[in-house]
Amino acid sequence: MSVSSLSLKVLFNWGMQMIKKVSHLGMAVKNLEEAREFYRSAFGLESSDPIIGGDGTLRVSMVDVGNTLIELLQPIGNEGVVAKFLEKRGEGFHHICYEVDDINAEIASLKAAGLEILGEPKPGAEGMAVFLHPRGTYGVLVELVEK
Ligand code: CO
Repeated sequence: MSVSSLSLKVLFNWGMQMIKKVSHLGMAVKNLEEAREFYRSAFGLESSDPIIGGDGTLRVSMVDVGNTLIELLQPIGNEGVVAKFLEKRGEGFHHICYEVDDINAEIASLKAAGLEILGEPKPGAEGMAVFLHPRGTYGVLVELVEK
């Protein structure tokens, strides 16, 4: 075979939209319950019961904004990327998450395009997810989730 399956995939994706929608916006917070109460009282927005995420380094709650979600992320302890983010940058916007159909296909395309993928896809709050390094994405940490 003269053309690799990866090349075919890249060719197939040329000019096609890989992203379906913004799945959620991730926000780093120090206190999840206070943040949930803020969204409830200030904006009338309900949030999901907290779950443990980030390999046990995070408490996570999703705020339903209608056409997207806000993912509130509170670190557990001082380890983990969000704890380090809070220490360095303080509370606020942490990442944007885009919804895709086939995460492995998109990773292959993005790698072929030279983007830096951080690790392998892992189960996250919304499904199998992977992150792209902000170095290659105009300074924004990008998450892809398969939904
Ligand atoms: Co996220």
